[in-house]
Amino acid sequence: MGRSAFGALFAVVLLLPLLLLAHARPNTIRLPSDRAAGLHLGADDDAVGTRWAVLIAGSNGYFNYRHQADICHAYQIMKNGGLKDENIIVFMYDDIAYNEDNPRPGTIINHPEGGDVYAGVPKDYVGDNVNVNNFFAVLLGNKTALTGGSGKVVDSGPNDHIFIFYSDHGGPGVLGMPTYPYLYADDLISVLKKKNASGSYKSMVFYLEACESGSIFEGLLPEDINIYATTASDAYESSWGTYCPGEDPSLPQEYYTCLGDLYSVSWMEDSDMHNLRTETLKQQYHLVKTRTGVSETYRFGSHVMQYGDLELNMKDLFLYLGSNPLNDNATFTDDNSLLSSSKAVVNQRDADLVYFWHKYRRAPEGSFHKLNAQKDLLEVMSHRLHIDNSIELVGKLLFGSGKASELLKSVRTAGQPLVDDWSCLKSMVRTFESHCGSLSQYGMKHMRSLANICNAGVSKETMAKVAAQACTAVPSNRWSSLHRGFTA
Ligand SMILES: *[C@@H]1O[C@H](CO)[C@@H](O)[C@H](O)[C@H]1NC(C)=O
Ligand SMILES: *[C@@H]1O[C@H](CO)[C@@H](O)[C@H](O)[C@H]1NC(C)=O
Ligand SMILES: *[C@@H]1O[C@H](CO)[C@@H](O)[C@H](O)[C@H]1NC(C)=O
Repeated sequence: MGRSAFGALFAVVLLLPLLLLAHARPNTIRLPSDRAAGLHLGADDDAVGTRWAVLIAGSNGYFNYRHQADICHAYQIMKNGGLKDENIIVFMYDDIAYNEDNPRPGTIINHPEGGDVYAGVPKDYVGDNVNVNNFFAVLLGNKTALTGGSGKVVDSGPNDHIFIFYSDHGGPGVLGMPTYPYLYADDLISVLKKKNASGSYKSMVFYLEACESGSIFEGLLPEDINIYATTASDAYESSWGTYCPGEDPSLPQEYYTCLGDLYSVSWMEDSDMHNLRTETLKQQYHLVKTRTGVSETYRFGSHVMQYGDLELNMKDLFLYLGSNPLNDNATFTDDNSLLSSSKAVVNQRDADLVYFWHKYRRAPEGSFHKLNAQKDLLEVMSHRLHIDNSIELVGKLLFGSGKASELLKSVRTAGQPLVDDWSCLKSMVRTFESHCGSLSQYGMKHMRSLANICNAGVSKETMAKVAAQACTAVPSNRWSSLHRGFTA
């Protein structure tokens, strides 16, 4: 084992306590029972037509437990809200419930004291059928474009309402998938425009959890196609995992991975307890923004954003999510607070380290498991160092040591998309990867640097030359491996 590998392990040991900051919040859940306010509702005349939901977890691996937990929980909300299975389409890799690391086989939880959210979830698109092509085919209602899966698509008509929830890793302009390629913002936006042009929905709501998720819509989502989106973070910051192991005493001892994501559990725990006939999207947005932004301190939290047709946020959640009849008396009031339950949060991008570290720490001294866990931890750390160093070196070779850092990190003015030429960005990704290895999940964080290389007018040929200088070989580990193709 090389020196740098031990250095990486040392860095993990030093850094982890910083990542696992716990912070208590006041316990102030109230359940108002204002029956009168609930009576007139459900009378929204938009409520004709069918409600559709597409729920997608874009990751796999037990260290990403929380994304599939989020999606399963969302399914239970739709189901309790009265949507039919034929109108709920679920994408999840489905490697969590029966994972050898799962302490409660056959179940998934999304809250430390929460019950199973896995039961009953339809397995429409699992394993490698969770991919960009199928996601787009489902949104567009195009069965012939599907490859595998249940064949369920959003077969919607002009009076229908569509809800999409995506929970995953991301980076500037990109969302992860458990398969390659990843999903790029420009492709998603053109699919949404195509859906609009087909006249097959009345309105659509898109909830998105991912790092830099604002960049998926910023400067890209039109305001006039009846789509309203909210994102876990703005275009420049990470989003946060929650119910993570660490100092939170309420996380069951046997779990050593985060159980949820902060923005996701915020909207879902709100939806679980209120009468959604009387709560608007806007009210939920504000509540989720407060919780995810940690009461506007943004310490260990992010800026929840809204995009697209903002007038749609006056609509009741009922129009998209239905409402659980058991909550008929739990009317929304503005002082409802959900700030009680999450204590240990972790920057999404570091959540895998938490898992690998705890797995290593827990394994019996001298065991085969300990050795394996150590290897896993070192591999994930060395991949990070390799990607960070390679991007930095590429930048220096292109722009000189003095200017590189500033150019790679520069941020465009608000309202502008990440990059003008998306095919340039994708070609830069492929060129980089063919010399330096896959960016994989962690490497999505460098998408802004690659976009800025395009914005600076660097040619593909120059990039190829420089990447070949920066990386003499593709490292041999599962993160760098190109056997699944390029991420773009
Ligand atoms: C559906 O997908 C197929 C295969 O990709 C394509 O040829 C066809 O044009 C699509 N249909 C519509 C209506 O977009
Ligand atoms: C949305 O669809 C309508 C109706 O087909 C069309 O007139 C309009 O141009 C579309 N908007 C965009 C931004 O594509
Ligand atoms: C709501 O309140 C009414 C009146 O108090 C009661 O009859 C009804 O059972 C309650 N519904 C639920 C779901 O708790």
